[in-house]
Amino acid sequence: MNTSLSSYVLIILFTITTQSIFFTTITSVAEVVVKDATGKKVLDNVGYGLGLVASGGRIKLTNTDNKKKICPLNVVHDPNDNKGGVFMFTMVGYEKYLKTSRVLGIDSGDSKTGCTKSTFWTINDAEAKAPGNLITTGGRFEDENTCFQVVEYPKPTNPKVPSYMIQHCPEHCESGSGLGTCFNVSIYEHNGVKRLSSVGTTPFEFVFYKLST
Ligand SMILES: *[C@@H]1O[C@H](CO)[C@@H](O)[C@H](O)[C@H]1NC(C)=O
Repeated sequence: MNTSLSSYVLIILFTITTQSIFFTTITSVAEVVVKDATGKKVLDNVGYGLGLVASGGRIKLTNTDNKKKICPLNVVHDPNDNKGGVFMFTMVGYEKYLKTSRVLGIDSGDSKTGCTKSTFWTINDAEAKAPGNLITTGGRFEDENTCFQVVEYPKPTNPKVPSYMIQHCPEHCESGSGLGTCFNVSIYEHNGVKRLSSVGTTPFEFVFYKLST
């Protein structure tokens, strides 16, 4: 083997090695299929109930805020509700099963309240104070403000039940970017109501419930 050929081989080997290391790093954090509370794979773009692990109750929509009618709607946590709303996690780039660390929109479907604004969850400004950082409907799919991802909850309360947290990642849905800060979605009390917010406190741990329809 002459010198130029062997250095050529070395360069190729080096490229393959570094690329596979890089690839492994990426895939080890991403691309895990999300499971519901019974361990079944969660379907992309299909309705599920969202149950909170620590406090109980479900996520739902409300069409009132401070006793006034609103549209778009607020996304809230009701600790006393065991039915809640129906939410579809819709990945940007459809696949059969929902995966962690993939950018997606969260669609509330028809709220049956007469509100005709868009049903996608949105955050006006993740870094603003409430109410700017609180989640409402009214967003546009594949937009910065409606860009979320599902992440495995770091220390599940019950290791046998798959649990998750939601992050808001505005820059991940910008074309050509794919990186940037993600904000943990947590519960924040506003006007006496438990709202969903990007304010950087503890994320809420939740499970997916398949609906019995
Ligand atoms: C988001 O939540 C995780 C898990 O609780 C925590 O480790 C991390 O520090 C939080 N990030 C921010 C920005 O608060």
